[in-house]
Amino acid sequence: MLIKFTVFITVCQVVLGAVADSEWVGKRFPDENVIDGIQEDDTTFLAPHDNHGRVEMGIKNKDCDSGEDPKGLDGDLGPINYICFDKRIKFQPDPTVHPVLHVDHIPKKYMPWHYCMNQSIEYNTLVPTYGDHRPLWPRYGEYTFVPKQRWVHSLEHGSIVMLYHPCANGNEVNILKKIIKGCLYQYVITAFNELEAKRPIVLVAWGARLELSKVDPEMVINFIRKFAYKAPEKVTNDGQYDKNLLEPASIKFKGQENSLCPLPSYVI
Ligand SMILES: *[C@@H]1O[C@H](CO)[C@@H](O)[C@H](O)[C@H]1NC(C)=O
Repeated sequence: MLIKFTVFITVCQVVLGAVADSEWVGKRFPDENVIDGIQEDDTTFLAPHDNHGRVEMGIKNKDCDSGEDPKGLDGDLGPINYICFDKRIKFQPDPTVHPVLHVDHIPKKYMPWHYCMNQSIEYNTLVPTYGDHRPLWPRYGEYTFVPKQRWVHSLEHGSIVMLYHPCANGNEVNILKKIIKGCLYQYVITAFNELEAKRPIVLVAWGARLELSKVDPEMVINFIRKFAYKAPEKVTNDGQYDKNLLEPASIKFKGQENSLCPLPSYVI
């Protein structure tokens, strides 16, 4: 296991987002009492709040987040996201393209914020590994498409998110889906059409992502074992958002957070 992981690290190009706690210039620490100009004690808030002053998560609320996106602030949720429109540009897996493991240092004090559906949420990277998000998180499972403002919340609960470009090689995509479904309960699988052609398959966890051209099952399993359930919030219950859900995660692995990828139940 140890040897395997050493191999895993050397074949990857490790990119460290090195930010020391003291240098952190991110917003919204727990001790901040002004959030984008709104005082935390502003009585105009209609939605229930948690004890950090954030909108309560996991509660459907028509004034805040009912699982819909009436203003379209999380973008188009339709087929543009999950259909490969030009079949000629199917991306072929290339074993010579090395995988990239990107690890972000997230200060312990960092606390992401919950925004209602009337405010947009922006990320400064294409594939965020942490950040602000919507109060409702996705039910675990495979979707045609889930916007990042939703699955970033899943990351905060220790989940694994699999992203693939709709033009990625179908065989590679299916191999990875199968591995994930045989590894854990808390996963979200969705297409994501902004991934680059060179590495059109990406696994994300809180603070880490693995970008792949070709799926290496051992590397994927090592990533899941190392990064799943390492997030700050230990929330294991299912989400509430289920737009475009194709197949809910099997509850077979629910409560098995300490025995990830129990071989040989995944078959490649
Ligand atoms: C968004 O909706 C919430 C809940 O209804 C409200 O408290 C907040 O003031 C609204 N924010 C904006 C920018 O409209």
